[in-house]
Amino acid sequence: MPSRVLLAAVAAATGAALLLTGPGAQAGAAGTSLKTLAESGGHYFGTALTQSNLSNSTLTAVASSQFDMVTPGNEMKWDTTEPSNGNYNFGPGDQIVSYAKANGMRVRGHNLVWHSQLPGWVSNLPSNQVQGVMESHITTEATHYKGQVYAWDVVNEPFNEDGSLRQDAFYNAMGSGYLADALRTAHAADPNAKLYLNDYNIEGENAKSNAMYNLVASLKSQGVPIDGVGLESHFIVGQVPSDMKANMQRFTALGVNVAVTELDDRIQLPANSGSLAQQAADYATVVNDCLAVAGCVGVSQWGVGDADSWIPGAFSGYGAATMYDNNYQPKPAYSAVVTALGGSSPTPSSSPTSSPSSSPSSSASPSSGPGAGCRVGAVVNAWNTGLTENLTITNTGTTALNSWSLAFTLPGGQTVTSAWNTAITPSSGAVTATSLSYNGTLAPGAATTVGFQATHTGNTAAPTAFTLNGTACTIG
Ligand code: XIL
Repeated sequence: MPSRVLLAAVAAATGAALLLTGPGAQAGAAGTSLKTLAESGGHYFGTALTQSNLSNSTLTAVASSQFDMVTPGNEMKWDTTEPSNGNYNFGPGDQIVSYAKANGMRVRGHNLVWHSQLPGWVSNLPSNQVQGVMESHITTEATHYKGQVYAWDVVNEPFNEDGSLRQDAFYNAMGSGYLADALRTAHAADPNAKLYLNDYNIEGENAKSNAMYNLVASLKSQGVPIDGVGLESHFIVGQVPSDMKANMQRFTALGVNVAVTELDDRIQLPANSGSLAQQAADYATVVNDCLAVAGCVGVSQWGVGDADSWIPGAFSGYGAATMYDNNYQPKPAYSAVVTALGGSSPTPSSSPTSSPSSSPSSSASPSSGPGAGCRVGAVVNAWNTGLTENLTITNTGTTALNSWSLAFTLPGGQTVTSAWNTAITPSSGAVTATSLSYNGTLAPGAATTVGFQATHTGNTAAPTAFTLNGTACTIG
């Protein structure tokens, strides 16, 4: 017989759409800030900040109210801290640390050794001088910040995509031994800092993350001080790896922590309600994955808002990658993260100045502006290899909908085989269910029920976050 799983209604959230009216209001109600919610589960929620960010009071109001961990965007990198041999400049980094301290935030030091933003004088050194220079740099910087940083990205981005080590100045001079040497040198300078290796495209299981896994296993077996692996997590919307949680778990099984260190989720511009809804589902997936892995210590976004993000400069045609739009208004991803962290989901924004980031030409769908609101109740009936799930979607807003699309992420191993009263694509992972000709109209207060049948491999849970036309929904 099918076992019946009823999801408890989150009654407190019902209908509690918050009206957020200005840049200072993003914090939402007390208890709904990212940091407060993350801390209640023993995690942190961080952001990158650059020196110039500190003079933007709208930005810092969001940073200090929402985040409890700061990563300097550039200020602790080699080109800033030691622009010429033996001449150190910690002024910009110190400013970030002062800001963090003044606002009760911790600091992730980023970074000590990296092939990029590395001054030419280092890459041009004769190879027999590189080790001494690297050790001096690590010792001087880690000693300067001793006791002030929670963690260091000791070596950043050591791998090529195929899992081989990058042939940078350090590898070329010292071979793979430079990694252990860098970690040991950092540990000697600041024994209390958590020491990380950090890289991108290691969020799912692939050649590169396998290489990182093998490296960490080897370092651990040699007693080299390593505390964690940073998964940068620069994603493309809709492409969060479905095995991110499993991948994090295999790292923590080695006895190290993991952290999501530079999260963003880029969208091909202009963004629209569909891509913003998918982004919300992606952010929720990442946060849920971290929360599900004991040993995942926290999540940091790379920059506060879309206006601060490195993405448009680095990936032509892409942007809108963060949880805050260009005006520091929270986007659907913000609400989805609040929900994932266990808070009650505020309506992203009702400010008339708010618009989808970087897409002034795409008008908001009728349901993502003022008056939008939704609730989704999920009822799962599961048996050993399959399940059915009914989703009751209620328009809790004040605006009628003419059509709707509901974005959510299916738990790993679930694959949709058929659907009723809706069309669902794709069949697994981050999916979108759309209205059909006869059930697109939803007046305020009206509800419709749709459903699907799926196969599963053991995880019969319902999705944990839904967004309807770009608005994050309460659950229940
Ligand atoms: C980026 C900064 O955000 C940019 O301002 C800078 O021009 C380039 O570097 N991986 C990392 C970060 O580890 O240090 C990078 O930061 C983004 C990719």
